[in-house]
Amino acid sequence: MSPSSSAVLKKSQQKQDTKAAHLPNTQGHPILPQVNVGTLPQPWDTIGRHIGLPNLGHDDRARLDNIAHLNHFLAQVVVPNMQAEYETQGKVAFANAHKREPNSRDEARAILEKSLAYRAWSRLRRGSMEQRQRIVADAVHSKADVIGEACAAQVAEAGNLELDPNLKLPAYLVETHAHLMPGGYTSQRGDNDVAAGAMYEIGLYSTVPGRSGPNSDGAGRAISNWLHENYPNLKPKRVFDLGCGAGLNTVAMAKAFPDTEIIGIDAAAPMLRYAAARAHAMGVTNVRFVQADIEHIPERLGQADIAFTCIVLHETSHEAVKNIFKGCQDRLVPGGLTIHVEQPPYEGKPLFEQVMRDWDGRYNNEAFWSGLYALDLESELAQAGFAQDKIFTGFVSAVPWRSDATVKGKIEDYGRTGNWKVYGATKNA
Ligand SMILES: C[S@@+](CC[C@H](N)C(=O)[O-])C[C@H]1O[C@@H](n2cnc3c(N)ncnc32)[C@H](O)[C@@H]1O
Repeated sequence: MSPSSSAVLKKSQQKQDTKAAHLPNTQGHPILPQVNVGTLPQPWDTIGRHIGLPNLGHDDRARLDNIAHLNHFLAQVVVPNMQAEYETQGKVAFANAHKREPNSRDEARAILEKSLAYRAWSRLRRGSMEQRQRIVADAVHSKADVIGEACAAQVAEAGNLELDPNLKLPAYLVETHAHLMPGGYTSQRGDNDVAAGAMYEIGLYSTVPGRSGPNSDGAGRAISNWLHENYPNLKPKRVFDLGCGAGLNTVAMAKAFPDTEIIGIDAAAPMLRYAAARAHAMGVTNVRFVQADIEHIPERLGQADIAFTCIVLHETSHEAVKNIFKGCQDRLVPGGLTIHVEQPPYEGKPLFEQVMRDWDGRYNNEAFWSGLYALDLESELAQAGFAQDKIFTGFVSAVPWRSDATVKGKIEDYGRTGNWKVYGATKNA
């Protein structure tokens, strides 16, 4: 045991001893310290209204709010206690047994898996995801025809959608359904199906919980702010949003760059129908959506000044990452910019944080998660042809919705808080 961990343990035991006299029998379990729960999630009712969002009834709204509050509680109250227990008990027991500190993610996970608090947290987190998907799928599918037709009318008016019924869908999208989303992004019932898009937007609310703002676009606003700050003179003619999904962040970019043509590209037709209808319903006209495999950007779309991905790479294979980076190198104008926004990699992080961040890769149907966060994306950019001295990294943080202390990073939420790493490069002029 290191001197510092033994001191921490003594201190925490002393604290418990003085409190224990006033509390019921705790049977040796740590007494929960007071935790600042931060700003509570905004009610689901307050997220942006548009044509594709079904009007949820009272019970569904209450269920969604309940999951958002559960996720908030898990992150703000349970995790800090779990971490304290890991530091002051789990690690100490490990050090007593092995005469050293744990030195790998697997060892740290094995310590946590012995903890009742971790096992309960993990089960509740998985359960909250299953509940989220069930509630949202029921709510959306019960109104699927109505919202599908409403969206189709918007798209017909806007003419901002190009679908390719012959597109060969990437197997990893069809066969793995990321974060337990029933049917994944690509499955559809009929030509007007927008269910995946609606499910994605509604579900995101309860998972983050509510922190992405009224239009579920925290990441898009973070990226566009970062671009304005770091490239104040940037006037892109065309931007590719690769893997644009439901267009939540595509619209944020379109609003931030009103004179730019923004092209959202995705393989999933139900996501794109929803994205196109949503953008039109929100009055955004400088954006269009194209169905394609982002590993092979169609030639007809021309070249872009910026090509970016937002929280996409962790849902693609290593081979796909290589093809996407190569596509960016090929399809940018000389001097063009590529950026890729993801959660931070594991390397250099404390082991507790690594285990927490890796949870989705094990229990949330994120088949490529652990692989991606162990990859060196700067080296991947170099292999795709970007010059070493033009490759950079940075951080973007979500603009808080209201003055939300939790978003400002007081309490880290390992993958839910809006703090992302940017991997980028400029193409040689
Ligand atoms: C997690 S979602 C992110 C959506 C969006 N970028 C956002 O910020 O909300 C990932 C999206 O990437 C798309 N995607 C993944 N691999 C793709 C590929 N090879 N070609 C086209 N789209 C892909 C999926 O269909 C899905 O819509």
